[in-house]
Amino acid sequence: MVCTIIVGGFFGDEGKGKIVAHIAERDRPAIITRGGVGPNAGHTVTIGEKSYGVRMIPSGFVYKDALLCIGTGVLVDPRVFLHEVDILGVKGRAFVDERCGIIEESHIERDRGSDHLAKKVGSTGTGCGPANADRAMRVARQAKDIPELAEYLKDVPLEINESLDDGESVLIEGTQGFGISLYFGTYPYVTSKDTSASQMAADNGVGPTRIDDVIVVFKAYPTRVGAGPFSTEMTPEEAQEHGIEEFGTVTHRRRRIGGWDGEMARYSAMINGCTQAAITGIDRIDAGCYGCTEFGKLSKTAKDFVKQAEEEIGAPVTLISTGPDISHIIDLREEL
Ligand code: IMP
Ligand code: MG
Repeated sequence: MVCTIIVGGFFGDEGKGKIVAHIAERDRPAIITRGGVGPNAGHTVTIGEKSYGVRMIPSGFVYKDALLCIGTGVLVDPRVFLHEVDILGVKGRAFVDERCGIIEESHIERDRGSDHLAKKVGSTGTGCGPANADRAMRVARQAKDIPELAEYLKDVPLEINESLDDGESVLIEGTQGFGISLYFGTYPYVTSKDTSASQMAADNGVGPTRIDDVIVVFKAYPTRVGAGPFSTEMTPEEAQEHGIEEFGTVTHRRRRIGGWDGEMARYSAMINGCTQAAITGIDRIDAGCYGCTEFGKLSKTAKDFVKQAEEEIGAPVTLISTGPDISHIIDLREEL
């Protein structure tokens, strides 16, 4: 039995979705469950020719034997959830906790209509901030109040804790990234909730003593969408010289690109209680590493990068993503 949390170590969009999908295929968890804010998250999973951008269903959906859950702390937009259930064909194994907070059209209007949120903070406009505000005010509706969700309701924490009691594995999928945590990030340029591993456990009603592993995902060239400080940011021209151009999964906004930030990686690893780290985009450090699946075949430049990152993070780097496809990965976990 292993209970693993996966979280983002920088500003989100580190490639958690792909790491989750790989671990799910490899470790065969009974449940893959989401923590995090809500449908402001966008995870892209690429399998062969097909690319899926998901905002509510856990990106581990590619592993067909797992129950797919949304934890109590997460906000649910019923329209987004039902649409994804439909296009991904996961009806029968996708569930939301009955106490999840609900995002309504009015929350989206308030998010997009607010100069503070939409213009200053640069929110995703998905209604999460206003819905979390209403939840704190105890006026938000819950999943159990929505007839369309009736057949998808579960006591998610109960399901997870019983699975762990039965000796099964559970994967808790975090969203967003450390730098946009409401508590630890670059306030006020942050999202509407904490984004660290403890929050992901709390979102799913899993006590801290039940967590075995926290995998923090870092991106070789971190990115940030929306406003706020970004100390290693480069100009769009410099990014282009590195061949990097990215757009958000949810908002399609151009992502700001930066260089590796060892200090932030260390601090974020500390607060997340990182036991293992994943590094994505190593093929951008050295294009020759594209698609590589063996550590020994990485170039010296790439290996040196990983070693230095490992020292800064203070935990072993056990997963290295070398390209967008789910198969483009080096998995060193067994060597631990
Ligand atoms: P909100 O979460 O939509 O209120 O947006 C607040 C800030 O967090 C904005 O800068 C967003 O771009 C950023 N943000 C929220 N969710 C994500 C995510 O999943 N990835 C990256 N940035 C995000
Ligand atoms: Mg994303």
